[in-house]
Amino acid sequence: MPGIRAPINYSEEPPRHPALKVNAKQPFNAEPPRQALVSSYVTPTDFFYKRSHGPIPVVDDIERYCVSISGLIDKPKDLFMKDIMNLPKYNVTATLQCAGNRRTAMSKTRTVRGVGWDVAALGNAIWGGAKLADVLELVGIPKSTSTTPKGGKHVEFVSVDRCKEENGGPYKASIPLSQATNPEADVLLAYEMNGETLNRDHGYPLRVVVPGVIGARSVKWLDSINIDSQVCQGFFMQKDYKMFPPSVNWDNIDWSTRRPQMDFPVQSAICSLEDVNVGKNGKIAIKGYAVSGGGRGIERVDISTDGGKTWKEASRYQKPGSQYMADEERSDKWAWVLFEAEADVHSNVEIVAKAIDTAANVQPEKVEDIWNLRGILNTSWHRVHVQVRHSNM
Ligand code: MTE
Repeated sequence: MPGIRAPINYSEEPPRHPALKVNAKQPFNAEPPRQALVSSYVTPTDFFYKRSHGPIPVVDDIERYCVSISGLIDKPKDLFMKDIMNLPKYNVTATLQCAGNRRTAMSKTRTVRGVGWDVAALGNAIWGGAKLADVLELVGIPKSTSTTPKGGKHVEFVSVDRCKEENGGPYKASIPLSQATNPEADVLLAYEMNGETLNRDHGYPLRVVVPGVIGARSVKWLDSINIDSQVCQGFFMQKDYKMFPPSVNWDNIDWSTRRPQMDFPVQSAICSLEDVNVGKNGKIAIKGYAVSGGGRGIERVDISTDGGKTWKEASRYQKPGSQYMADEERSDKWAWVLFEAEADVHSNVEIVAKAIDTAANVQPEKVEDIWNLRGILNTSWHRVHVQVRHSNM
């Protein structure tokens, strides 16, 4: 690809914030301390989790960089950055969440394979860019198309980076054409994050953002788009990021029996407290995030201070000064809500959070019930412990 290249080793990695908790250095995988997530509705780019599968690509000449669009269409085309930036620009506030968020907790039940994430493999950003639906019109695909005359049904995104899972080939993923051409789905080719040019870790110069869908489908460092009759056959669509029942193990797994995971389910986690906290008795602030996939809002967040026997409702908010109401125009449908509650703690307690989305989906109680060998989508009730230290002073 002209103007951009994939380094063969990790000697050209970008600088990163020292406060990030690094799970793996090569490829770079890191999340912020969980408390950092609840200090602002929009996650600062430096603190946004970073999940890559190979060395970070380098742009040598942005003028020469282009995305080629081809496949089952009549008018294949190479689009340069100026062509994409000439399209109407949209800012979409959307939460990106890795399917492996909260994997470490799932692995405590039974071993799973994958990067060990705490509760912060997600972030909420304002993504700026062109709508994919507008981009596809430039190659002759009208809005709201589910099949092209040549039989194209899926939009495959192929990246510049190389990863070992693809035997040195590029990272790739696909979404249905109907979603890609639906302006309401807000799928972006983003060149900005939080009002600034996208940085290298997050996909400079151009990445896909598929709101409401697991992060794996938001392909970074876009190289080409291929309109295909079938779902992308790449490793991350076929041999990873699929949800299996607890009975499936590495000896009996048949990847072809499951579809690639797309929307993420309802999720929440407490971020103002660690898994185990020791403190004095008295008032304690319980703050965290709740988010659901598919554009579903958060109807309620319930908090328990007795391990799940009794519950009270937390308050929810997005933008400061504006009351959050799920599904209302003023709310960001693809974004998380932050929640807040207070508890009066006088003895050792287990504090629990669970969220309910607008479709009345609720987080499952036990991690054992949703255990899967790849450790994805741990959305079980989030539990933290507070041990009260009684002092005589
Ligand atoms: N795109 C490319 N090209 N290469 C990757 O390794 N990782 C995916 C996705 N897109 C990846 C990619 C995964 S698994 C996730 S969770 C998100 O990017 C992470 O995006 P972020 O690093 O901007 O947070």
